[in-house]
Amino acid sequence: MDLLNKIAVVTGAGSGIGRASSLKLASNGAKVVVVDFNKETGEETVSLIKEQGGEGIFVQADVSKSEDVQKYVNAAVDTYGRIDIFFNNAGVIQKISPLTEIEDAEYDRIMSINVKGVFLGLKHV
Ligand SMILES: NC(=O)c1ccc[n+]([C@@H]2O[C@H](COP(=O)([O-])OP(=O)(O)OC[C@H]3O[C@@H](n4cnc5c(N)ncnc54)[C@H](O)[C@@H]3O)[C@@H](O)[C@H]2O)c1
Repeated sequence: MDLLNKIAVVTGAGSGIGRASSLKLASNGAKVVVVDFNKETGEETVSLIKEQGGEGIFVQADVSKSEDVQKYVNAAVDTYGRIDIFFNNAGVIQKISPLTEIEDAEYDRIMSINVKGVFLGLKHV
Protein backbone atom coordinates (compact mmCIF):
# COMPACT_ATOMS: atom_id res chain seq x y z
CA MET A 1 0.00 0.00 0.00
CA ASP A 2 1.60 3.26 -1.08
CA LEU A 3 0.65 6.11 1.24
CA LEU A 4 3.63 8.29 0.39
CA ASN A 5 3.14 11.75 1.90
CA LYS A 6 -0.48 11.10 2.84
CA ILE A 7 -1.33 12.88 6.10
CA ALA A 8 -2.90 10.59 8.70
CA VAL A 9 -4.43 11.54 12.06
CA VAL A 10 -4.77 8.67 14.56
CA THR A 11 -6.45 9.21 17.93
CA GLY A 12 -5.66 6.96 20.87
CA ALA A 13 -2.32 6.35 19.18
CA GLY A 14 -0.35 5.87 22.39
CA SER A 15 -1.33 2.24 22.75
CA GLY A 16 -2.79 -0.92 21.24
CA ILE A 17 -4.62 -0.64 17.92
CA GLY A 18 -3.88 3.10 17.55
CA ARG A 19 -0.13 2.63 18.00
CA ALA A 20 0.00 -0.40 15.70
CA SER A 21 -1.97 1.49 13.02
CA SER A 22 0.28 4.54 13.32
CA LEU A 23 3.39 2.42 12.80
CA LYS A 24 1.81 0.65 9.83
CA LEU A 25 0.64 3.91 8.23
CA ALA A 26 4.11 5.44 8.70
CA SER A 27 5.89 2.37 7.31
CA ASN A 28 3.74 2.78 4.18
CA GLY A 29 4.83 6.40 3.73
CA ALA A 30 2.18 8.40 5.59
CA LYS A 31 3.07 11.27 7.93
CA VAL A 32 1.23 10.58 11.16
CA VAL A 33 -0.31 12.99 13.65
CA VAL A 34 -0.29 10.89 16.83
CA VAL A 35 -3.06 11.98 19.21
CA ASP A 36 -3.48 10.75 22.78
CA PHE A 37 -4.20 12.22 26.19
CA ASN A 38 -1.26 10.26 27.57
CA LYS A 39 1.80 12.37 26.72
CA GLU A 40 4.37 9.71 27.59
CA THR A 41 2.91 6.91 25.47
CA GLY A 42 2.00 9.26 22.61
CA GLU A 43 5.55 10.58 22.41
CA GLU A 44 6.80 7.00 22.55
CA THR A 45 4.72 6.17 19.45
CA VAL A 46 6.34 9.07 17.57
CA SER A 47 9.79 7.81 18.64
CA LEU A 48 8.93 4.34 17.33
CA ILE A 49 7.77 5.88 14.02
CA LYS A 50 11.05 7.79 13.71
CA GLU A 51 13.11 4.70 14.64
CA GLN A 52 11.63 2.92 11.63
CA GLY A 53 12.47 5.91 9.39
CA GLY A 54 9.01 7.50 9.33
CA GLU A 55 7.68 10.94 10.17
CA GLY A 56 5.13 12.09 12.72
CA ILE A 57 4.23 14.56 15.44
CA PHE A 58 2.52 14.13 18.80
CA VAL A 59 -0.46 16.20 19.96
CA GLN A 60 -1.73 15.75 23.49
CA ALA A 61 -5.52 15.95 23.42
CA ASP A 62 -8.60 14.64 25.16
CA VAL A 63 -10.96 13.60 22.36
CA SER A 64 -14.02 14.33 24.51
CA LYS A 65 -13.19 18.07 24.60
CA SER A 66 -14.10 20.20 21.61
CA GLU A 67 -11.16 22.59 22.09
CA ASP A 68 -8.69 19.67 22.23
CA VAL A 69 -10.13 18.18 19.04
CA GLN A 70 -9.76 21.54 17.30
CA LYS A 71 -6.19 21.64 18.63
CA TYR A 72 -5.19 18.35 16.98
CA VAL A 73 -6.92 19.31 13.72
CA ASN A 74 -5.12 22.69 13.69
CA ALA A 75 -1.78 21.02 14.49
CA ALA A 76 -2.23 18.63 11.55
CA VAL A 77 -3.15 21.43 9.13
CA ASP A 78 -0.49 23.84 10.43
CA THR A 79 2.25 21.20 10.19
CA TYR A 80 1.29 19.27 7.06
CA GLY A 81 -1.33 21.41 5.29
CA ARG A 82 -4.19 18.90 5.19
CA ILE A 83 -5.66 15.63 6.49
CA ASP A 84 -6.04 12.68 4.09
CA ILE A 85 -6.70 9.82 6.52
CA PHE A 86 -8.52 9.92 9.85
CA PHE A 87 -8.62 7.00 12.30
CA ASN A 88 -11.11 8.02 15.01
CA ASN A 89 -9.85 5.26 17.29
CA ALA A 90 -9.51 6.57 20.86
CA GLY A 91 -11.83 4.86 23.28
CA VAL A 92 -12.12 3.22 26.64
CA ILE A 93 -13.55 -0.09 27.73
CA GLN A 94 -15.28 -0.07 31.08
CA LYS A 95 -14.74 -2.82 33.58
CA ILE A 96 -17.38 -5.49 33.10
CA SER A 97 -19.96 -5.15 35.86
CA PRO A 98 -23.72 -5.46 36.37
CA LEU A 99 -25.55 -2.43 34.94
CA THR A 100 -27.08 -1.66 38.35
CA GLU A 101 -23.58 -1.10 39.76
CA ILE A 102 -22.42 1.41 37.10
CA GLU A 103 -22.23 4.92 38.54
CA ASP A 104 -23.82 7.78 36.57
CA ALA A 105 -20.41 9.49 36.38
CA GLU A 106 -18.84 6.39 34.85
CA TYR A 107 -21.62 6.21 32.22
CA ASP A 108 -21.03 9.89 31.38
CA ARG A 109 -17.24 9.36 31.13
CA ILE A 110 -17.58 6.42 28.73
CA MET A 111 -20.16 8.18 26.56
CA SER A 112 -18.10 11.40 26.42
CA ILE A 113 -15.06 9.55 25.07
CA ASN A 114 -16.56 6.71 23.00
CA VAL A 115 -19.53 8.60 21.53
CA LYS A 116 -18.99 12.37 21.82
CA GLY A 117 -15.26 11.99 21.05
CA VAL A 118 -16.09 10.22 17.78
CA PHE A 119 -18.69 12.88 16.88
CA LEU A 120 -16.27 15.75 17.63
CA GLY A 121 -13.52 14.10 15.57
CA LEU A 122 -15.81 13.69 12.56
CA LYS A 123 -17.14 17.22 12.96
CA HIS A 124 -13.81 19.04 13.15
CA VAL A 125 -11.75 16.88 10.78
N1 LIG B 1 -8.94 -4.32 21.69
C1 LIG B 1 -10.18 -4.77 21.50
O1 LIG B 1 -10.44 -5.98 21.57
C2 LIG B 1 -11.31 -3.82 21.18
C3 LIG B 1 -12.58 -4.34 21.00
C4 LIG B 1 -13.63 -3.47 20.70
C5 LIG B 1 -13.39 -2.12 20.57
N2 LIG B 1 -12.13 -1.66 20.78
C6 LIG B 1 -11.93 -0.22 20.62
O2 LIG B 1 -10.82 0.03 19.77
C7 LIG B 1 -10.15 1.21 20.23
C8 LIG B 1 -8.68 0.90 20.55
O3 LIG B 1 -8.63 -0.18 21.48
P1 LIG B 1 -7.27 -0.66 22.13
O4 LIG B 1 -7.46 -2.07 22.55
O5 LIG B 1 -6.12 -0.33 21.23
O6 LIG B 1 -7.26 0.25 23.44
P2 LIG B 1 -6.04 0.84 24.32
O7 LIG B 1 -6.61 1.07 25.67
O8 LIG B 1 -4.82 0.00 24.17
O9 LIG B 1 -5.74 2.24 23.61
C9 LIG B 1 -6.62 3.31 23.67
C10 LIG B 1 -5.81 4.59 23.65
O10 LIG B 1 -6.74 5.67 23.68
C11 LIG B 1 -6.25 6.64 24.58
N3 LIG B 1 -7.38 7.42 25.09
C12 LIG B 1 -8.35 7.01 25.94
N4 LIG B 1 -9.19 8.00 26.21
C13 LIG B 1 -8.76 9.07 25.50
C14 LIG B 1 -9.21 10.41 25.37
N5 LIG B 1 -10.29 10.85 26.05
N6 LIG B 1 -8.54 11.24 24.56
C15 LIG B 1 -7.44 10.82 23.89
N7 LIG B 1 -6.96 9.57 23.98
C16 LIG B 1 -7.61 8.71 24.78
C17 LIG B 1 -5.55 5.88 25.66
O11 LIG B 1 -4.60 6.70 26.35
C18 LIG B 1 -4.88 4.76 24.84
O12 LIG B 1 -3.59 5.14 24.40
C19 LIG B 1 -10.90 1.70 21.46
O13 LIG B 1 -11.84 2.67 21.03
C20 LIG B 1 -11.60 0.45 21.95
O14 LIG B 1 -12.76 0.77 22.68
C21 LIG B 1 -11.10 -2.47 21.07
